Amino acid sequence: MTDFFTQLTEILEKEAARRPGTCVSEETLRALQASRPAPAPAAPARGEDAMPSARPVPPRPAPSAVVPRTSSPVPAPPPQDPVPRPMPDMEAVCAEVARCRRCPLHATRLNPVPGEGDPHARLMFIGEGPGGDEDRQGRPFVGPAGQLLDKMIAAMQFRREEVYIANIVKCRPPRNRAPMPEEAEMCLPFLQEQIRLVRPEVIVLLGATAVHYLLKRQEGIMRIRGRWLEYGGIPVMPTYHPAFLLRQEQAKRDAWEDLKQVMRRFGKEPPAPRRAPR
Ligand code: URA
Repeated sequence: MTDFFTQLTEILEKEAARRPGTCVSEETLRALQASRPAPAPAAPARGEDAMPSARPVPPRPAPSAVVPRTSSPVPAPPPQDPVPRPMPDMEAVCAEVARCRRCPLHATRLNPVPGEGDPHARLMFIGEGPGGDEDRQGRPFVGPAGQLLDKMIAAMQFRREEVYIANIVKCRPPRNRAPMPEEAEMCLPFLQEQIRLVRPEVIVLLGATAVHYLLKRQEGIMRIRGRWLEYGGIPVMPTYHPAFLLRQEQAKRDAWEDLKQVMRRFGKEPPAPRRAPR
């Protein structure tokens, strides 16, 4: 009979093949294997779990599904050099993210979440950092905020597979807090490499954290959203984070106006506006 690890490997490899840009690291596979003898209690079915810093979340113990570093079969690596740049392709970025121990977030993550999508996408979305669902799956925007993002992408007449989705930090901040400045700065080279490799025609920044760390702008999202900005010659549209929109329904109208500006940039005519995507 095929063993557990082999089965998982096959499933994850098929998944990676189905979704361009998805990475399944060797470390993930090993962590899954290591976690087998002591299966974790069911993960909390908290929809909001996927929304980093969307609202204050009371402290709770680290999820028991996290493989303790001490029991990990992967030996602790020596201190790491700066992120090597330039990187040849997205696979190299994913591999380096999976190896990264440059900030404390690696110690509490279940999986790195480098990003996913078409590595030659015309449109790129950048959020803040993985939440609980993303941490478990190793994929960006797969929780409730991700479901709204999917609707926003579809309303813009794109398919999720044809855009690229990434975050400022690639590992989940504990309890979904916002990334600390040192964590964001340590992680930024990965995102910069991703942008350089994808070379999107437009970047949509989701929320203040993305604007703050990528563009070094201090304005709040309410002030800065809806205005074309620029990153390395690429037009950038800041808008509300979908987790915020889930809590502030009335802000969807403004977010939709922002996204329509992006659509027009691609020559797409927005449908006669009746209501924002829900
Ligand atoms: N929020 C983010 O900013 N990124 C994710 O990947 C998920 C939720």
